[in-house]
Amino acid sequence: MESSKIRIIKNLVWLRSKFNFDFIFLKDSFSNEDIKRYYKKTKYLFYRLVGSKNGEMHIGISDDGICKKGVNYQDYHPKKISEILNNNSNINNVLELGCGQGANMAYLAKKHPKVKFQGIDLYPSLDKKNHNLNISLIKGDYHDLSMIEDNSIDMVYALETLCYSQNKNQIFKEVNRVLKPNGIFIIYDAYLNKNRKNLSEIEEIAAKLIESGYYLNEFEYIGNITKYIKDNNFQIVKEENMKNKIINHLKDYQDRIKKVSKLGPLFTFLCKIFPKEIIGNIVPVFFMFDTIEMDLSVYIYHILTKK
Ligand SMILES: C[S@@+](CC[C@H](N)C(=O)[O-])C[C@H]1O[C@@H](n2cnc3c(N)ncnc32)[C@H](O)[C@@H]1O
Repeated sequence: MESSKIRIIKNLVWLRSKFNFDFIFLKDSFSNEDIKRYYKKTKYLFYRLVGSKNGEMHIGISDDGICKKGVNYQDYHPKKISEILNNNSNINNVLELGCGQGANMAYLAKKHPKVKFQGIDLYPSLDKKNHNLNISLIKGDYHDLSMIEDNSIDMVYALETLCYSQNKNQIFKEVNRVLKPNGIFIIYDAYLNKNRKNLSEIEEIAAKLIESGYYLNEFEYIGNITKYIKDNNFQIVKEENMKNKIINHLKDYQDRIKKVSKLGPLFTFLCKIFPKEIIGNIVPVFFMFDTIEMDLSVYIYHILTKK
């Protein structure tokens, strides 16, 4: 059987033969303005078109790991959070970090009308049809939650967004401040599974591809996260590696890209006319399957409580 590393090299050569994505390496770092622009360009043309029609901007998950056509597996995250709300009737105030298009809060607010939801994002939005729900949006950077009082929130959650932070320690500090004692902090995110300095050359290229295509400044090592959690007075209630629950979904994304690339000249033309942010996005989406499969990266579900 070919090693995962050889497969990455083969896939890299194959993908580069289909379209020129060298431009994604032009920038070494991304400002909040860059990230905002990236989501402005991709939220409809990429996330709604090929992902969820509701506006969720995260990967699909299923507990049995099965990925069938036509099922919205992006409901998985808010469904799990809804279960936690069902089991904790004392939760009244919920904050979402990096709420994007507000789709997670909309799902939850419909099921839990008595709970107050607030979402912060650099570029927040909410579909008009959901404006009647108990949701408020804050336009801002989640490193600074000064608009929220100490000990006022029952639950904070962050879905595939903290990966954008270069100062996660600050976020854990801020979340600890706004949470009530025993408050819950839920995180779903992807991390590098190896210390950066121990990566081989091909692993470094794979990590760089993920960073550049997704506009991440640093695809951070999971070991650092465990440290921030402990240093900021959180207790780990659950830490689940979701590999078996996401791998078929990631394979499906890779297969879909392979299928679209078979359009030949039409694919080449689309790559030329679509914004760079969308075309560049194909690269990390394509390689997430390989890196998770070879355990170079991990996707973790954390449930933490404030001590
Ligand atoms: C992959 S999307 C996930 C959106 C949402 N959590 C979801 O599941 O649909 C990442 C989001 O993080 C937001 N984001 C990135 N850096 C941020 C920051 N410093 N402060 C607030 N939001 C940020 C982006 O604007 C984007 O909406």
